[in-house]
Amino acid sequence: EVPSIAEHFDSSFLIGAAVEPHQLDGVQGEIIKRHYSSIVAENAMKPISLQPNEGDFRFQEADKIANFARENGLSLRFHTLVWHNQVPEWFFLDENGKKMIDETDQVKREANKELLLDRLTTHIRTVVERYKDVVDSWDVVNEVIADEATNARGMRESEWYQLTGDEYIRVAFQTARQYAGSDSKLYINDYNTEVSPKREHLYNLVTELLEDHVPIDGVGHQAHNQIEWPSISDMRRSFSMFAELGLDNQVTELDVSLYNWPPTPAYREYEDIPTERFDEQADRYEELFSLYRELDSIISNVTFWGIADNHTWLNDRAREYNNGVGVDAPFVFDINYQVKPSYWRIMNQ
Ligand code: XIL
Repeated sequence: EVPSIAEHFDSSFLIGAAVEPHQLDGVQGEIIKRHYSSIVAENAMKPISLQPNEGDFRFQEADKIANFARENGLSLRFHTLVWHNQVPEWFFLDENGKKMIDETDQVKREANKELLLDRLTTHIRTVVERYKDVVDSWDVVNEVIADEATNARGMRESEWYQLTGDEYIRVAFQTARQYAGSDSKLYINDYNTEVSPKREHLYNLVTELLEDHVPIDGVGHQAHNQIEWPSISDMRRSFSMFAELGLDNQVTELDVSLYNWPPTPAYREYEDIPTERFDEQADRYEELFSLYRELDSIISNVTFWGIADNHTWLNDRAREYNNGVGVDAPFVFDINYQVKPSYWRIMNQ
């Protein structure tokens, strides 16, 4: 058996994996227990999974993950209290079933905003109370900054934003803190946090929120990376900027795609991937973990968005852009759960 990744990085940060409940048994369960010190639900703790209809909370799948963490002494990251994707429609419908966004009457718009923020508060209270004993880090809001700014502050113009401005963000953090207490940490999570001007938009938002005493503890950097992008210097800059505000950093959804964007052309089968490509990926993993080690005083968790190459959301993306055919291979374990060159290179750090 190969040495444990989590033990290897024990003095620096937690090592995590995103999991689906069905991955907790068998070989994958054993890998999680051996190599990771933290887990996060890939989908089971998103609003659409937890409250598909108003007041209809479904905890069964999420509980499997929380219990696995409890039973095995793993840290649990919670993903995510608020997001514009995988959130059920009912949040944004008024009492007559009309889309809040279509309301033009000012008085009704105000009432809708209150209703929406009440629903948000109820969701957060219910969920946080259930899992606060085991969660050490909460993704409170996910992806609130736009890729291409359509307003001066670069805010994503989601329904949340259009209906409440940035109040949904403030309410989410305040409510999370109120019910979670101060034993666990609250994160604002996003992707492309290395890239200008998105990075600056996030920085400016966080600065404003901190000035207003909104309880934010850290920034989650998704880190859906490619082999050639983004640059290490942009990453170092981003982690450092947020640390200078007194915030923690976590790497929350790490994967290293074999492709640039868009992921085309893609290899058709796993067996078609040349070994040279895995070697290039290993070079990349080495420089990433070398950076994380260098910055270990300002990074507390490095979580992969999966366990092994047999299960990755990047396969869906590869297929989406290649007429339904294509595979990616972003992790340090292969489709048979064997270590790849990338494993050895991160273990050198
Ligand atoms: C992805 C999951 O991996 C997929 O299984 C699901 O179909 C869609 O969501 N950013 C996030 C994650 O914050 O929640 C996303 O997870 C990947 C991108």
